[in-house]
Amino acid sequence: MTAFRAPIGTKDVLPPDSARWAMLAARFYEQFHAAGYGLVITPIFEELGVFLRIGEATDVVTKEMYDFDDKGGRRIALRPESTASVVRAFVEHRPTTPWKAIYLGPQFRYEAPQAGRFRQFHQVGAEVLGTLDPDADVEVMALLDRFYRSLGLQRYRLLVNSLGDRADRARYVDVVRAYFQSHAAELSEQSRVTLARNPLRVLDSKRREDLPIVMAAPRSVDYLSDEAGAHFERVQSGLRALDVPFELAPRLVRGLDYYTRTTFEFASDALGSAQNALGGGGRYDGLSEEMGGPAAPAIGFAAGVERILLACDAEGVFPAPAAAVDVFVVDTTGGAEAMALTFELRSAGVSADRAFDGRSMKSQMKAADRSGAAVVLIVGSQERDAGTVTLRPLRNGFDQQSQFEVSRADVVQHVRKYL
Ligand code: HAM
Repeated sequence: MTAFRAPIGTKDVLPPDSARWAMLAARFYEQFHAAGYGLVITPIFEELGVFLRIGEATDVVTKEMYDFDDKGGRRIALRPESTASVVRAFVEHRPTTPWKAIYLGPQFRYEAPQAGRFRQFHQVGAEVLGTLDPDADVEVMALLDRFYRSLGLQRYRLLVNSLGDRADRARYVDVVRAYFQSHAAELSEQSRVTLARNPLRVLDSKRREDLPIVMAAPRSVDYLSDEAGAHFERVQSGLRALDVPFELAPRLVRGLDYYTRTTFEFASDALGSAQNALGGGGRYDGLSEEMGGPAAPAIGFAAGVERILLACDAEGVFPAPAAAVDVFVVDTTGGAEAMALTFELRSAGVSADRAFDGRSMKSQMKAADRSGAAVVLIVGSQERDAGTVTLRPLRNGFDQQSQFEVSRADVVQHVRKYL
């Protein structure tokens, strides 16, 4: 029989790598929780319509959606991102604003898989709904920057742009369309197709033949209303005040259509340009209303867990933690002692593991070694009868050869001396 494999574009996360995931998630949660953000858990599938608000002309919606009819005939989609879901939840529950939400979980996009690009990937993200204050823009960018730094990342840049209000954006789209149309003959075939569907996306082309035209394209910051311009100034001065380094990226457009005003992306210099986006986001001031909710200007970001860990590998930081328990119990009397002792240790807050299946002493000692335990406790019939346990320190600079018997009753106390 042929064995199954994980579907194309997905991957299993196993120990020790899974421990890094857990650590990354815990750190993200802690840092944002400490800044007033609360965890929001939305379903991983929604009615398709929720995601159509991302932009009907985007690749995410037109090409990459995992959508299907469920058994009740509803048109359902696996979420390709979480902002639309969070806004749907906001509109449904009407929490008091500003609503500061964080989330973590799998997202699904039917993309061509490659290094750092998956069909099921994971994002950590934050959204602040119900405020137009530029300080909120600064806050999310500064917190995300601090999160990356806390992992040890250094080789990345924060790129910032503003697309202006909806009217500014529409005007800019017209200008960009006209500009690219006048250069259509010089554009790549793909960009000509993109131009017909979504002119802004041409600015994102990385094709060599497009670059001279893209580089000379009109900049959105030149088409901002006074209000949007002033907002963008405040965002920049806020980032400077908090010493968050950033670069203006006048042609930064993002793959989703709901953005207004601030847009940003963190680009890693340690990764190839096809997968260098560590995270990105921006304002989506009209999305709540588009979903039938109240006016609620908002800003947020999402960051790819796989990408972040790739960048950590490339920079040699944030290694997987050693999967070590404090104590490994070796029991040659059949296993009952191992069971009792491991649970006694665990109850006392000492992490402990053991072997199963009544293995030989040699095999159990090997398992003890692999476990990374600081201390191995050995119970044979002699110890059991004498009410003792043999304690052998395995690390922390103790003489690895020495071992001695301690009283079974005080074993936790003895073990603690070696942790
Ligand atoms: P996005 O730029 O589509 O934005 O995705 C955010 C991040 O998710 C990317 O920077 C990247 O790190 C990661 N990512 C995206 N696609 C893949 C993939 N196929 N494989 C691996 N990683 C991927 C959003 O999703 C918006 N919801 C962000 C946002 C929140 N804007 C406002 N609020």
